Amino acid sequence: MNCSLAVCFLEKCHSHSAVLTDMLQQLGLPNYFLEKTLKQVSDYDYLLLVDTTSIAIAKTGKGAPAPVTVNFVNGAAAHRRKFGGGKSQDIAKAVGIHKKSGLRVLDATAGLGRDAFVLASLGCQVHMFERVPFVRVLLQSGLEQAANDEETHPIISKMALAGTTLSEYQARGGEKADVVYLDPMYPHADKSAAVKKEMAFFRDLIGHDDDADQLLPLALSLANYRVVVKRPKSAPYLNNQKPTYQLLGKAGRFDIYVLKSLELE
Ligand SMILES: C[S@@+](CC[C@H](N)C(=O)[O-])C[C@H]1O[C@@H](n2cnc3c(N)ncnc32)[C@H](O)[C@@H]1O
Repeated sequence: MNCSLAVCFLEKCHSHSAVLTDMLQQLGLPNYFLEKTLKQVSDYDYLLLVDTTSIAIAKTGKGAPAPVTVNFVNGAAAHRRKFGGGKSQDIAKAVGIHKKSGLRVLDATAGLGRDAFVLASLGCQVHMFERVPFVRVLLQSGLEQAANDEETHPIISKMALAGTTLSEYQARGGEKADVVYLDPMYPHADKSAAVKKEMAFFRDLIGHDDDADQLLPLALSLANYRVVVKRPKSAPYLNNQKPTYQLLGKAGRFDIYVLKSLELE
């Protein structure tokens, strides 16, 4: 981690689950109650802000952008769920949702869970892996809030966050899935304000996924039908390996490695 991070409680009481409370403790980060504004904090670069129901990551100091949280109930996730184009979205075509229903997907690089949420909202069972503990905390917090919402509850019930990485899953004899989905970090070409803000905290606290190439052979060994890799438009192939075919979108592309046709069954 290039920057310092602490856990900061905004309220004396919070109502997070035992799982989330345990995950927060296991981060082993300094923690305290916030008694000044974020702009005035200078002892840590970033804070994981814990209030009664949600958890956010916030940059400190003057000019810091608004905190980032995982919100599957409102905002961009809700808008995309209602008006995003459903099964005609590139991610749905790349995974093969239109060819087979109820696909079981391993999302090896879950991050903030946006792609996993889209796939689950289109009927996939998604098993998520995220190796950075504080990102797992943010994701778990978003999942718990959305599980309590009537509209998103059925979607969240199709999503499971593992406490391991995909390679640990394999080492423990984890089952193969229909599709393995990969979206490792890569310097991003999208310069929109929202992407910049999120990328800034990912870049500061996580860096780039320099070992991303190793994920492809692992993913290919755990998929029955296909591996889907999300890439920025100009990025080289993961592991220098040419995909079976590509879907090119406005902001990026999907590289699809087909192992077996979904149409044959
Ligand atoms: C670009 S983000 C993924 C964004 C995600 N698709 C979404 O929709 O929010 C990449 C994430 O993958 C995680 N990651 C990279 N390599 C990983 C690995 N080998 N195992 C687990 N997580 C990994 C990083 O920590 C980071 O959070």
